Amino acid sequence: MGVALETLFGKPVIVGHRGFRAEYPENTLAGFSAAAEAGADMIELDVRLSADGHLMVIHDAQLDRTTDGKGFVKDQPFLQLKKLDAGFWFNPRFARERLPELEEVLDGVLARMAVNIEIKYDPEAPAMAFEAADQVVACIRKKQAEPFTLVSCFYGGVLRRVYQKAPDLHLGVLTYKNKKGFLNTCQELKAFSWNPDYRYLDPDELLAAKNEGLKVLPYTVNSRKDMKRLLDMGVDGFITDDPVEGRAAMKDINSQPPPWPSPVKGEG
Ligand code: G3P
Ligand code: CA
Repeated sequence: MGVALETLFGKPVIVGHRGFRAEYPENTLAGFSAAAEAGADMIELDVRLSADGHLMVIHDAQLDRTTDGKGFVKDQPFLQLKKLDAGFWFNPRFARERLPELEEVLDGVLARMAVNIEIKYDPEAPAMAFEAADQVVACIRKKQAEPFTLVSCFYGGVLRRVYQKAPDLHLGVLTYKNKKGFLNTCQELKAFSWNPDYRYLDPDELLAAKNEGLKVLPYTVNSRKDMKRLLDMGVDGFITDDPVEGRAAMKDINSQPPPWPSPVKGEG
């Protein structure tokens, strides 16, 4: 098994957004493996339910952008979804990549990396997000993946459902531009992390979150300049499309001299 989140977050953490989205088709096993090889500590992925209740790893509600299928994920059964090509659209060399199931990903990567599971909420089918939440809990329990997984969502109601079923799981509260009440939600759910959009991350809110004991894990940070700026601000890591760039930013930070004066020769 991999490293438990409590240990992993002893230093800043690189999370591969949808795997290694900059260079591999998003949310595919090829991308997740590449993220591990590139030095990601964790991957982020998105889950939603098929028509017959399987937890599929795909970002969009519709199949059109990232597969050769059409229409909504929620309308198609597992076996149909499994026939789709999820790699060719990105580059023909990834032809025959399939949409993974959550369980398949956990089997494949948990030995190497932690996993941030984002449950997608579709206002057109709210009940499915709650069913997905129950299944995410069941899948984590089945794989005994509790120490190595973070469950995140933009919608507090879904995280509340996870918390009611499994208060021991690590929860990540996602926010976008409007962050109203985020700290209360984090407190109520005893969240492990706050995952804000880095473009709207305010230093006072960062401090308030840190004072609550939260890990702060902004998304989706892709330039080395932004990565270094955020690390300087005191975030606990970042979610990035490019774990190679993330690793380079961490190295730059680590190679900088400490901010205190170096001892004068002859002293001590
Ligand atoms: O988990 C952070 C990020 O993935 C949330 O936005 O749209 O990329 O799922 P999105
Ligand atoms: Ca996501």
